[in-house]
Amino acid sequence: MSSRIREQLLSLLLHNTDSFISGEEISRRLQCSRAAVWKQIEELRKEGYQIEARPKKGYRLVHRPDRVAPEELKPHLSTRRFGRRILYRQSLPSTQPLAHDWARQGAEEGALIITEEQTQGRGRMGRVWHSPPHSGIWMSLILRPPVPLAQAPQLTLLASVGLTRALRRETGLDIQIKWPNDLLIGRKKFCGILTETRGEQDRVQYVVLGTGINVNVSGTHWPDELKDTATSLMIEGKRSYRRADLIAAILKELEELYDGYLSHGFEPIRILWEEYAGMLGRNVRTLTPRGPVEGTAVGLDGSGALLLRQGEEVIPVFSADIDY
Ligand code: BTN
Repeated sequence: MSSRIREQLLSLLLHNTDSFISGEEISRRLQCSRAAVWKQIEELRKEGYQIEARPKKGYRLVHRPDRVAPEELKPHLSTRRFGRRILYRQSLPSTQPLAHDWARQGAEEGALIITEEQTQGRGRMGRVWHSPPHSGIWMSLILRPPVPLAQAPQLTLLASVGLTRALRRETGLDIQIKWPNDLLIGRKKFCGILTETRGEQDRVQYVVLGTGINVNVSGTHWPDELKDTATSLMIEGKRSYRRADLIAAILKELEELYDGYLSHGFEPIRILWEEYAGMLGRNVRTLTPRGPVEGTAVGLDGSGALLLRQGEEVIPVFSADIDY
């Protein structure tokens, strides 16, 4: 009951920021008592919303904190499935295990776990992902693609294309993809993708697409080893961004690409990926499970493997960390 009132109250306030709306009108529109309205106004104020109250005039929202709660996100969403079900927490160790639990319990495709802060954020290859409060996008999206397990890595590439397109459009920054799953500005990383897949050989049961984006992270708390290699949208764009706007743009782009992938396969994604990859044509060194490999990055093959040219030979690299 109170969460319904809260959501509707916030939506009313958000749609009336130019004028006051009286307590009487709010209670009539929300079909609740004036006392219930007052209680929710107080709750919102505790969370950082600044709401002006004037006798005889009513209430007006003057400042909204940057939060990624469903009531902030939903008014911006234009997707059909992605983000239509949201599990939101102020703080979590990591969004990934919760997403796995939810997926095992049958959560539908597009269900999203999102948090303001992660205390044990996970990166690829067992690394730590720094996820300070209220300054980044730390989220996991559940997908159920009807494809064999071997094709699941294509979803990481799809996600990197979707994130690049949405964030380039929203920020105007020159974002490039570094294979397989990093987004860079210049030579510094601000976004990583952690794709975790469960299923049998012939079929994916579900995929948890974890995305970490340094949005308004100032970098003062990064450990020394990250200071030269990490960045954030705020550092690069010299302004802060509203995370809910970015998330809505990302989910829309991801849903469109994903629907296209289900109907037309990986080829359109592969072509877009090559357009956004800053590393093509460069000499690349990688450490694969079978040892070090060096060559010129020339593109992606149809499965999503990175193609490296070594003299006359072109070899596919399936999973590795690369330097260039
Ligand atoms: C990487 O580049 O190593 C991948 C980083 C992925 C971080 C995201 S943040 C949301 C989700 N939850 C986690 O613990 N990790 C992923």
